[in-house]
Amino acid sequence: MTDQPAAKLWGGRFEAETDPLIERLNNSLAFDARLWREDIEGSIAHASMLGRTGIIPASEADLIVAGLREILAGLADGSIAFDPGAEDVHTAVESLLRARIGPVAGKLHTARSRNDQVATDMRMYMRRVVGEIRAAVAELQRALLETAERELGVIMPGFTHLQHAQPILLSHHLLAYFWMLQRDRERLMDAERRTSVLPLGAGALAGTSFPVDRQMVAEALGFERVSENSLDAVSDRDFLMEFLMAAAILMVHCSRLGEELVLWSSQEFGFVTLSDAVTTGSSIMPQKKNPDIAELARGKAGRVIGDAVSLLTTMKGLPLAYNKDMQEDKEAVFDAVDTVLVTVPALTLTIRTAAFHAERMQTAMRRDFSTATDLADALVRGGMAFRDAHGVVGRLVRTCIARGIGLEDLSSEQIAELAPEARGLDLAGLTVEHSIASRSVQGGTGTDAVKIQIAAARAALTS
Ligand code: ARG
Repeated sequence: MTDQPAAKLWGGRFEAETDPLIERLNNSLAFDARLWREDIEGSIAHASMLGRTGIIPASEADLIVAGLREILAGLADGSIAFDPGAEDVHTAVESLLRARIGPVAGKLHTARSRNDQVATDMRMYMRRVVGEIRAAVAELQRALLETAERELGVIMPGFTHLQHAQPILLSHHLLAYFWMLQRDRERLMDAERRTSVLPLGAGALAGTSFPVDRQMVAEALGFERVSENSLDAVSDRDFLMEFLMAAAILMVHCSRLGEELVLWSSQEFGFVTLSDAVTTGSSIMPQKKNPDIAELARGKAGRVIGDAVSLLTTMKGLPLAYNKDMQEDKEAVFDAVDTVLVTVPALTLTIRTAAFHAERMQTAMRRDFSTATDLADALVRGGMAFRDAHGVVGRLVRTCIARGIGLEDLSSEQIAELAPEARGLDLAGLTVEHSIASRSVQGGTGTDAVKIQIAAARAALTS
């Protein structure tokens, strides 16, 4: 803590104090303080470069760098805190530095603006957290993959329109989410490439008149490239919009998985029991076990979609270059990061501790006509056109419903009686097991195909 309040970085031109209400509206320290590490590391790289290029004397650069290192360590161990009255993280760091090393601190901001500084901070922050998010997504993928391997052989009804459609393997269903998450990770990785561009050197908007070495700063901070256009560098937030869109899509996937767990754990389905660790009770109904975490995975998606829409809306009407509206990028991004980093691991735990009920799934497929397509396919193999076979089986289904039986209750003879077209055909395809076994097409739900899929998933996860 400094003894005097953090001075503004721009007081000279002003005669009167800022109105307290306006201070409150303008202040961003409450949320951008979380950029402290990036802000200081960025400043260390900038000050080192100023010293090495002779823009400021090397001895002064050393003093600044040493002061910044101490502040970094002090903030990390909690022995130093920001002045809560500072306007933003950049002001807060500079005032800590001034308190430590005196007026030479004022040379740190040579050849720099808060505009290129904040863009640099956000890019560094994103590189760090996107790595964490990708690791969390990979863990959820691993949980799905391991469950798919463990439950291989369990057959469940597959749905379209939430109506029983065709039998599928539970493993196949779980792996569908694996691949969604794989694309989410790829999207994040792809966005990272465009994030790794250094804005510093762009100054306020027009570049700087000092002979800065941008490449040196980029290398020190681990950026792949330096920006090509100073206006673009300070006003571009598409790296954040891209992240938010990728996060929103990821959360939509989490939401759909959450929704299925909600459905499957209901009395009506009974396909899964979620562990006590990821469910909650009711304050009035003693018997209740509610799938709150799965519901929150669904609910939190709305929030992250909102974050994405919020930044898109903020940016859409802004003229070049920097505008203060852009300060609004942070809360949306931080909220999305926090939400994703708690939701994804919560789903991982939910999947890892879930107990699936193969018998219930089997029972659910009794008399559900989910092998009707297989029967039609068998007729086609006997020479019938698919459209005709479809009609024949449709009539068979109608008859079964009228009699209160399922397709599996009919013998080949009975089928032939009801549908003379089927006489003499081997109609053993009526069992769900046969249905599964017959779908050995690449990417299909056949057990052998799913084994190949599991191997591909394993490879995707380790590459
Ligand atoms: N707090 C500001 C932001 O997040 C930092 C940049 C301020 N630049 C300025 N010219 N006022 O966007």
